[in-house]
Amino acid sequence: MKHIVSGIQPTGSLNLGTYLGSIKNFIDVQRRHPEHQLLLFIADLHALTVPQDKMKLRKTIKELAALYLASGLNQDTLSLFIQSEIPAHAQMAYLLQCFTYMGELERMTQFKDKAQKQTKGVSSALFTYPALMAGDILLYDAQYVPVGEDQKQHLELTRDIAIRLNNRFGSMVTVPEPLIPKVGARIMSLTDPTKKMSKSDVNVKSRVNLLDDETLIRKRIMSAVTDSEDTIRYDTKEKPGIANLITIYSAITGQAIPAVEATFKDSDYATFKRAVADAVIGELAPIQARYHELKASPELDRILDEGKAYADRFATNKIRKLQNALGLGRKRK
Ligand code: AMP
Ligand code: TRP
Repeated sequence: MKHIVSGIQPTGSLNLGTYLGSIKNFIDVQRRHPEHQLLLFIADLHALTVPQDKMKLRKTIKELAALYLASGLNQDTLSLFIQSEIPAHAQMAYLLQCFTYMGELERMTQFKDKAQKQTKGVSSALFTYPALMAGDILLYDAQYVPVGEDQKQHLELTRDIAIRLNNRFGSMVTVPEPLIPKVGARIMSLTDPTKKMSKSDVNVKSRVNLLDDETLIRKRIMSAVTDSEDTIRYDTKEKPGIANLITIYSAITGQAIPAVEATFKDSDYATFKRAVADAVIGELAPIQARYHELKASPELDRILDEGKAYADRFATNKIRKLQNALGLGRKRK
C-alpha cells in the first residue's frame, strides 16, 4: 500500500481558514489519490516543543481528530492516529538526529521565528523538531506529504536525510515529495483583511471557529470589515475585506470568483454578507452535527485505535530495519 502522510499540531481551535486552506485540501488529496492510504496524525509530540497546558492539550487532541473526521475525509483510505501513541516516532526522531547536521537545523526559518518569539526557555526539542518531523514521514515510506508552503523547508530537509540514509544503507526509506496546494484559498482576518485569519489572533472577532454556533457565525460575518464603496468586486488591494468574503463564498460554493462577482453585482454589502453567512453556516452545520455525534459515541476511539494499529505495525518494522542496519542491540527479524 502506498502512503500519504501528514500531521496536524493540536494547538488552538480550528477556524474557517484552517478548514478551507488545510482540511479541504486533505479531502481533495484523497480524491486525487484513491489508491493511496492517507496516514493522518495528531502531532502531539510536536506540540510539546513549546509549553502546553495539560488539560487543554488533551481536549484539543480529541477535538481535532473528531473535527477532521467530521469534515468528510474518506474513511476507507484513512488511518487517523495520535503520534505519541506510537513509540516509533520518538525512537525514529533520535535515530535521525544522528544523521542531521547542526548547520541544517540552524538554517530552519521556523526555528528562528519561534525561538525569537519565545522570551525564555527555548527547548532543545524546538531545535530538533525537523528530525522528529522527518521521522514521521520516513517511518511510513510516504510517497507524498501534503503540507502548507511554510513546511517546504522541513520537507526538503526530510528528503536530504532520506537520501543520506539510502546512500549509506541501500534502500532504507522512500524519498517523499511534498504536495503543496498551488492556489489554496488564503482566508484573511475578518477584522483586518490584510492579515491571515489565525487561531492565535487575540481578537476573537477576527475569525469564525468551526464549532461556533449559527448566531455567532452570522454576527462575525455581518460585522466583517469592508469599505465604503458598496459594490461587490474582487480587488485584494483596494477592497481586501470584500475580496476575502468573495474568496470564502467561492471556496465554499465552488463558484469561480468572476461568477460570484456577477451573482452579486447589484447587491449591497448587507445582502452579500447575509449570503456569505448562509453559505458558511450551511457548510459547517453538518460538520458540527457529525462532530457532536462522534464525540458522544465510541466510534472515535475505535477509529483512533484502528489507525494506531495500522501505523504501529508499519513503523515498528521500519525502526527494526534501521536498528539492524545500524548495528544496534542484537540482530532481530
Ligand atoms: P496552523 O494550524 O495555523 O499551523 O495551520 C494549519 C494548516 O492550515 C496549514 O497548512 C496552513 O497553511 C493552513 N491555514 C491556517 N490558516 C489559514 C488561513 N487563514 N487561510 C488558509 N490556510 C490556512
Ligand atoms: N510541522 C507540521 C506543522 O507545523 C506538522 C507536522 C508534524 C507534519 N509532522 C509532520 C506535517 C509530518 C507533515 C508531515 O504544520
